[in-house]
Amino acid sequence: MAALREALPLTTISRTEVAIVGAGPSGLLLSRLLHRAGIDNVVLERRSAEYVLGRVRAGVLEKGTVALLDEAGVGERCRREGFLHEGIGIAFDGARHRIDFQALAESAVTIYGQTEVTRDLMAALSADGPAPRYEAEVIGIEDFDGDSPLVHYREAGETRTLRCAFVAGCDGSHGKSRESVPGRAYTAYERAYPFGWLGVLSETPPVSDELIYANHERGFALCSMRSHHLSRYYVQCSLDDHVEDWPDERFWDELRRRIDPEAAEALVTGPAIEKSIAPLRSFVAEPMRFGRLLLAGDAAHIVPPTGAKGLNLAAADIRFLAEALIEHYREKSDAALDAYSERCLKRVWKAERFSWWMTSLLHLFPETGAFGRKIQVAELDYLIGSRAAATALAENYVGLNFD
Ligand code: FAD
Ligand code: DHB
Repeated sequence: MAALREALPLTTISRTEVAIVGAGPSGLLLSRLLHRAGIDNVVLERRSAEYVLGRVRAGVLEKGTVALLDEAGVGERCRREGFLHEGIGIAFDGARHRIDFQALAESAVTIYGQTEVTRDLMAALSADGPAPRYEAEVIGIEDFDGDSPLVHYREAGETRTLRCAFVAGCDGSHGKSRESVPGRAYTAYERAYPFGWLGVLSETPPVSDELIYANHERGFALCSMRSHHLSRYYVQCSLDDHVEDWPDERFWDELRRRIDPEAAEALVTGPAIEKSIAPLRSFVAEPMRFGRLLLAGDAAHIVPPTGAKGLNLAAADIRFLAEALIEHYREKSDAALDAYSERCLKRVWKAERFSWWMTSLLHLFPETGAFGRKIQVAELDYLIGSRAAATALAENYVGLNFD
């Protein structure tokens, strides 16, 4: 990379305060919060805006995430169109049981797709600036140990460089930010699960008013939604499966077999308008700060999707990061930047634990055999019979308080 820096003509170098790598929810939200605080920033995104909007991902927002969207001035549509859910259904052994968030944790979640969050952020940024730079792929980051890091990127067939005061690595699990840090500078904690999720989006009414998480001897299933006429469903599948192995009929048959009889009866099926397979993984990189390079969201940690925590954790990181950068510029204090990694990781590990637990409770783990299955059913029985156990689920699902 040093050779690349030396070879650069000066005209290709521009400058900003905060270079943000990645225009997923983390990068866009940070850009917007910094812009509102008067801090100059540039977002570099390797994909096109259409591609980013075409990715169907999370759908459950914690209250803290919605509050942060409000703070960024983009919460209005989410509050108007999102569904407030005060509970979920847990289905097993042919019956469905409700976990009442309002009664147990005095809280609720909002059902509003990540795609819509991204769309709202994009609209605000294109109206007010700074407009993210799409199809601008970061190829290397250097000098983040000093005061003036450099971000090298490729845009319109040219290699360009952005000089900045801070780099926010918001480029997801396969981005360049973490890759730019020497492996010896962080510890990676990881667990891979021996299955994936096959997700289907269909223009059909949701099967139930609330989400249903199903444990079944054939594997996990989840019934979710995006609106009154748009449903999102998932079934646990093999890591060797491809979407072509799952024609619509096979998907609907499998889903119907795994959910409770009442839901199976009510299920309205239709053509899949999106179908994708995601592997499940737990991953944390510690620390999350390397001098003037700060990682946020999936660039620093991954959770299996069962607890609906990925997007919410990304938003929590951005809340801490925006606070820390604003404090640096307004109060000339680095105290919050120094505390950034530790503050995030405390929350991250609690969400990692919860996501791992939900995954362990609800999926079929072939290697644990009949004993593992009996333990799962005993735990589910305990969950629905014990207010203490149900409260623990509810508290974590709606989102833990901020310390
Ligand atoms: P991302 O959304 O991954 O955004 C990172 C961005 O950086 C991308 O736009 C990428 O194109 C860009 N980028 C990468 N490399 C570069 C580069 N070199 N230069 C410039 N830009 C770059 N969470 C849930 O809670 N529920 C779910 O059902 C769920 N499903 C998921 C399904 C999939 C397939 C995946 C991958 C994630 C899913 N998640 C889910 C997790 C959730 O979507 C993420 O936690 C969330 O997207 C994190 O946001 P982010 O902005 O940190 O990262
Ligand atoms: C959705 C995804 C999740 O991972 C989850 O736990 C709940 C809902 C969804 O895509 O709607």
